[in-house]
Amino acid sequence: MKIEPFLTEQFFTQYEFSAPHLLASSDCETMAIGELLQMAGSTLDEFAKVTLGYTESQGDPQLRSQVAGMYTDIGKEDVVILTSPVEGIYLAMQTLLEPDDEVIALRPAYDALNNVARHLCREVIPWNLVARADQWELDFDQLESMIGPQTRMIVVNFPHNPTGFVPSAAEFERLITLARANDVWLFCDEIYRGLEFDTPIPSAADRYEKSVVLGGLSKTYGLPGLRAGWLVIRNATLRDELINWKHYTTICPAAPTEFLASQALLVKEQLASRSKSIIQRNLELCEQFFSRFPDHFTWRRPRAGSVAFVELNLLNFGFASATAYCHHLAQNDGIVLLPGKCLGFDDSFVRFGLGRASFQSALEAFATVVSEKHSVVN
Ligand SMILES: Cc1ncc(COP(=O)(O)O)c(C=O)c1O
Repeated sequence: MKIEPFLTEQFFTQYEFSAPHLLASSDCETMAIGELLQMAGSTLDEFAKVTLGYTESQGDPQLRSQVAGMYTDIGKEDVVILTSPVEGIYLAMQTLLEPDDEVIALRPAYDALNNVARHLCREVIPWNLVARADQWELDFDQLESMIGPQTRMIVVNFPHNPTGFVPSAAEFERLITLARANDVWLFCDEIYRGLEFDTPIPSAADRYEKSVVLGGLSKTYGLPGLRAGWLVIRNATLRDELINWKHYTTICPAAPTEFLASQALLVKEQLASRSKSIIQRNLELCEQFFSRFPDHFTWRRPRAGSVAFVELNLLNFGFASATAYCHHLAQNDGIVLLPGKCLGFDDSFVRFGLGRASFQSALEAFATVVSEKHSVVN
């Protein structure tokens, strides 16, 4: 049975490993295995002792305890270790959704958060983030009007890819209250958690008994090649049903990944602050860049996370869509920006990724292109 194209991954597949300037990556700067082990006080010898047998389906108990420690009210029995973060989206949707269900999902969104549900159930109704002059906003009237008897699940992602939106504490509580009052599941993708620039947001796992929370080491901790992720599911029946689905996908986590994930969690604060300091520096570069080109871009500064969603004034670029421009830019100038259409939004937006050390040189290359090819006056 066919599923919609995974536009983000398809776009990256074309350019990610060939274009010299990546300006759209959502993960933060990574490191070598040796560097991680050294930071965590471990050694390659210890890593070499990891045996390559099957592991526990739910995940190594010690690793699950470490993950549980990242929440306030969660035990290791609530945690399921995955073979990649994205696997968690697939498993949760497969486990929870029936053909007659409706899902309400924040938009724009990482493709999997919409497409797997759309493949499985009657309808995925978009809950659109609203672009105000200089920031993104949630519209609760919109959400309330969409919840109905068929609503099985609300899907959100905070900090949000691609806008960098995070709800206020009051907005977060309002969302939980609405979900509880309507007895719907809340799938909360928290893979960018820990990248808040000021007040950390609570986890839905600690606030709502019918939440399914996704976490992982790919973004905040800069370790996407580890493929380390987890779900927090407090409902034991759902957890067992999900683990049954997992037997059909990956059975159990990879042993080397579990070892390295455990090491990474020993130094999680260090890893996150390393990412945050790169993002802060890149945000300052963004401020300078966007104030230099006010006729070309509308910049809404992200409140958290490693990405920003930027509107192009397409007339000044001479292109009909952001998608056409992004392909042109990658093919002719070797600069990769992700079209917002891949994330289900208007084709005049692009995603910037702020977590890489090479951001400055990529942005400088882009500034040259904008000023030389798109006739800016500065
Ligand atoms: C919001 C969100 N959820 C999940 C994922 C999946 O993470 P991974 O690629 O590490 O499986 C991504 C990756 O970009 C993402 O942005």
